[in-house]
Amino acid sequence: MRTPYYESTIHRQIREKRENRKDRIKDDLMHYGNDVLQSEEMKKAFEQTHHQWSTVGEHTFRVAFSSVMICYALRKLNIKVSIPAVVIGALCHDLGILGRNEKFSSARECSIEHPKESVEVARGLVSDMPDKTEDIIERHMWPIGESEAPNSIEGVVVSVADKYSAVKDLVKGSEVKNTGVKNYFNTEKQKIVEKIKQKTSEEDS
Ligand SMILES: [Fe+2]
Ligand SMILES: [Fe+2]
Repeated sequence: MRTPYYESTIHRQIREKRENRKDRIKDDLMHYGNDVLQSEEMKKAFEQTHHQWSTVGEHTFRVAFSSVMICYALRKLNIKVSIPAVVIGALCHDLGILGRNEKFSSARECSIEHPKESVEVARGLVSDMPDKTEDIIERHMWPIGESEAPNSIEGVVVSVADKYSAVKDLVKGSEVKNTGVKNYFNTEKQKIVEKIKQKTSEEDS
């Protein structure tokens, strides 16, 4: 039978492993994606709402983190993946959506055109673009809409991480304070508090 001491050691090891992995991901993002991270576009990304409750910036970071984590798992299975291509692809994949209301006339047009716009933004930000990056960005909407499937495993990684992160955006909302983006949980919490107050005041009267 496992003793509490033994259990706590395992939990500590898991926590340390996770923390090390987070640090490794951060290092990879800063090492390969520094030009994108320092850009004006990335700053603006935190000011535009995305997936209803989040920002383009937070969504981008979620996609980049998940993509690199999937790459580590694939490498453990001896599957070769290019982390620089994935990092730059993930960080730039939605930068073309900035200013969507001015650029696109409908949601459909936005969904089809923003990957191409993102490729243009990436070209302007990164001087030495890894081989597969443009394809990763251009086909990141797959399997949604009219997008064709990516030509590389790195493209599939970013596409899958994009869909997973979109769900996370909807469920978790914005975790960055003062972005001006509505936070789903705060809004819902406020509604519940108001209902309780109303109920109590009705009972009192
Ligand atoms: Fe997108
Ligand atoms: Fe996205």
